[in-house]
Amino acid sequence: MVCEYLVIVDWKGIERITTPSHANYSYSFEIGIKAGIDMIMVPMNYTEFIDGLTSQVKKNIIPMSIIDDAVKRILRVKFVMGLFEDPLANKILVDQFGNQEHRELAREAVRKSLLLIKNGESVDKLLLPLPKKSSKKLVAGSHADNLGYQCGGESEFQLREVEQFLIFHHCSRRDPYAETFGDSLNLTISEPGPSTIYNVCGAVKCVVVVISGRPVVMQPHIPSMDALMAAWLPGSEGQGVVDILFEDYGFTGKLSWTWFKTVDQLPINVGDPHYNPFLPFGFGLTTKPFQNN
Ligand SMILES: *[C@@H]1O[C@H](CO)[C@@H](O)[C@H](O)[C@H]1NC(C)=O
Ligand SMILES: *[C@@H]1O[C@H](CO)[C@@H](O)[C@H](O)[C@H]1NC(C)=O
Ligand SMILES: *[C@@H]1O[C@H](CO)[C@@H](O)[C@H](O)[C@H]1NC(C)=O
Repeated sequence: MVCEYLVIVDWKGIERITTPSHANYSYSFEIGIKAGIDMIMVPMNYTEFIDGLTSQVKKNIIPMSIIDDAVKRILRVKFVMGLFEDPLANKILVDQFGNQEHRELAREAVRKSLLLIKNGESVDKLLLPLPKKSSKKLVAGSHADNLGYQCGGESEFQLREVEQFLIFHHCSRRDPYAETFGDSLNLTISEPGPSTIYNVCGAVKCVVVVISGRPVVMQPHIPSMDALMAAWLPGSEGQGVVDILFEDYGFTGKLSWTWFKTVDQLPINVGDPHYNPFLPFGFGLTTKPFQNN
């Protein structure tokens, strides 16, 4: 198999070589291109880039041979992909997209990745799974019925189907985040997350479901909660969360990394000399599915 490649730099990445960004643009693309970048993502002012680069090549600051080499690599990748014969996407599998079988598999993945962190006061006072025919349930929280939040950055919960059960969940931000918009130096849950947790858990028995694309600081909130689970980003298959809350399936998910208490602990890894995480590597409470017969 022929393996062709090219090196591409992300959106405005080249101008961020300097601090502040774009402080010396011609210097930035000169060293970037000389370092081997073949394709540069210039989202705005492309004439500035083209004019600047052309001028540097004319002045022999950037040798034409580097440009030729980059162009060769870009064209080879396109040839190998067949883009010159068939420039549009191959749609042969398009009717399979989002089919029932795939959604079932995604729902299973949601069920199996859920992490149960706290379950009631003690082993003889477990809260989950919730009985299907239990009394009134309240669903609260900004992420409970919002597909965008559940899919996360770059992208329905059927909670309504199950009457209201007591659950509310929150993310580290109010909006689905992508790239730098999601940056956080403290990884704490932003409001109204904490106040929803304290209000609801202060009034009734509560199961908190955290919807987040990454671990967030949870430890300070634990005492106020009756049960806590991390659902990550269930995407379109939020029904997988419902499957497991209501006794059809047991919790099996285990942490495949270490969950910190606060960001000062980062990086934190199992085997560190002073390993004192919120949750250790491999953590995950389990439950058994309810047997109908
Ligand atoms: C940009 O960087 C180049 C190379 O280091 C330097 O010669 C030039 O003076 C810089 N220009 C500005 C405006 O800082
Ligand atoms: C594009 O870059 C040129 C050259 O630096 C500058 O004069 C012009 O104002 C820029 N245009 C925009 C829309 O930023
Ligand atoms: C955490 O960081 C975010 C922005 O990154 C900021 O809005 C928030 O106030 C910070 N929270 C705390 C508790 O410092």
